[in-house]
Amino acid sequence: MEKRDTLIEVRNLKKFFKVGDNTLKAVNDLTFDIKRGETLGVVGESGCGKSTAGRTMLRLYEPTSGEVLFEGKNINKLNRQELKAMRRNMQMIFQDPYASLNPRMTVADIIGEALDIHNLASGAKRKERIQELLSLVSLNPEHMNRFPHEFSGGQRQRIGIARALAVEPKFIVCDEPISALDVSVQAQVVNLLEQLQEKMGLTYMFIAHDLSMVKYISDRVAVMYLGKMVELADSEALYENPLHPYTQALLSAIPIPDPEVERKRERIVLQGDVPSPMNPPSGCHFRTRCPKAMPECAAMEPVWKEVKPGHWAACHLFN
Ligand SMILES: Nc1ncnc2c1ncn2[C@@H]1O[C@H](COP(=O)(O)OP(=O)(O)OP(=O)(O)O)[C@@H](O)[C@H]1O
Ligand SMILES: [Mg+2]
Repeated sequence: MEKRDTLIEVRNLKKFFKVGDNTLKAVNDLTFDIKRGETLGVVGESGCGKSTAGRTMLRLYEPTSGEVLFEGKNINKLNRQELKAMRRNMQMIFQDPYASLNPRMTVADIIGEALDIHNLASGAKRKERIQELLSLVSLNPEHMNRFPHEFSGGQRQRIGIARALAVEPKFIVCDEPISALDVSVQAQVVNLLEQLQEKMGLTYMFIAHDLSMVKYISDRVAVMYLGKMVELADSEALYENPLHPYTQALLSAIPIPDPEVERKRERIVLQGDVPSPMNPPSGCHFRTRCPKAMPECAAMEPVWKEVKPGHWAACHLFN
């Protein structure tokens, strides 16, 4: 098969929810690519649509409109059987390692279930494969008959990772996989994800709340605000030269370890709260909190455009 550089193409993807008589625009017109083997970090405040974007990309939610292509194939046009086969390629790791594992199933059942759905192994082979997957995530294979509550938070997240890896996916949406863990084990889980990526050539979309968390693991980073991407660039370009005022504000909030630099750091404090996605401001959704807002920001939506090679932004300063 042709080896494409681009693994996933997202085109004008929208996911709206009906809430009473209102429409909540959780994901509102995302267009971007994910390259094979990269880690794309996605950051933004709570409720900006990160998880909904991830779920819609895996077709765990039906999109309101727009398309997602996986290796050039439109996943929204697949029938049930084709979708089942496609699901092997795309997996998700969840934030809460407590809620995402069935407490009544042993670890062997949890991982085995993933193998069974796709008929990947049976009998002695199945047990062997479960033990192999546990070793892969540095858990003791002899603990395969234990229940989730017998493991720590970090170990549970490893079980979730083993379950995702069972089907040999190419792409994994990691939805805040370390946010619920003790700081002391966060780095271990991140290291594991990085090792697995290298070993298996995995592609990640890594969702996180803040920019400091994704800085070191992401090749590129996308910043979301109220259902939209406002900026996307190589990590270095985004941190060194952020174009969007929202990204600049987020970065200004990250403390700098060097006390000398930290003292001179200019902090941009955003006024007010994030507006409701049910009733976002006209034009640019960020304009009500933007220190650089101009008259046209209320009148027109900014265009999502490649301002410099590989550096995308949606802001009237660059339109
Ligand atoms: N099933 C649903 N029905 C109705 N509204 C929803 C549903 N799922 C999400 N939303 C709403 O869509 C918006 C985006 O939610 P989403 O969970 O994608 O945000 P998020 O960026 O992942 O937030 P967090 O950082 O808190 O996880 C929010 O306003 C949320 O309340
Ligand atoms: Mg979320």
